[in-house]
Amino acid sequence: MTPISTNLIDAVRTIPDYPKPGVMFRDITTLLGNARAFRRTVDELVQPWAGAKIDKVAGIEARGFIVGGAVAHQLSAGFVPIRKKGKLPHQTVRMAYALEYGQDEMEMHVDAVHAGERVLLVDDLIATGGTAEGAVKLLRQIGAIVEAACFIVDLPELGGAEKLRAMGVPVRTLMSFE
Ligand code: PRP
Ligand code: ADE
Repeated sequence: MTPISTNLIDAVRTIPDYPKPGVMFRDITTLLGNARAFRRTVDELVQPWAGAKIDKVAGIEARGFIVGGAVAHQLSAGFVPIRKKGKLPHQTVRMAYALEYGQDEMEMHVDAVHAGERVLLVDDLIATGGTAEGAVKLLRQIGAIVEAACFIVDLPELGGAEKLRAMGVPVRTLMSFE
């Protein structure tokens, strides 16, 4: 088994200039591939909600599915995929969201969460917060209570975590890259 570093941040690989010049890409695949680091990541993400009533974990495509599925299992909660548009087979609700350049749309099934259910939003990383903001709006549109949002990585200079807090969503992150 790969040894775990004392610091989870050391398990994340940085690829300079990917996918375009000037971007420092924080690659979590190295953390996911390290059994002990992955387990500790999930344990630390769920820690504030151990024993709390979380009905559903919503994960954002694609990397949020990996982390969100593990978090849902740990909390004995259901899992709800929030997908890029056009991927879900049943009736959906749709929300536009801001990307670094331009806009896209995300969807979830209308019956994936019921009004009043408590939802924990999960993704691997928060940068500008455009993606997570869209997911919170989508969940609230169908009456969900967004208890909190959690991410492995925060890029605080891009302001996403602050944006979510300003929407009244508590945010948990495990590490920051300046
Ligand atoms: C990445 C990441 C988050 C989002 C964060 O996903 O997994 O979902 O960007 O950026 P933001 O805070 O500026 O919105 P990406 O859209 O690259 O999709 P992927 O998970 O399919 O790679
Ligand atoms: N998503 C948005 N910005 C990112 C970054 N710098 N590294 C990995 N994923 C990202």
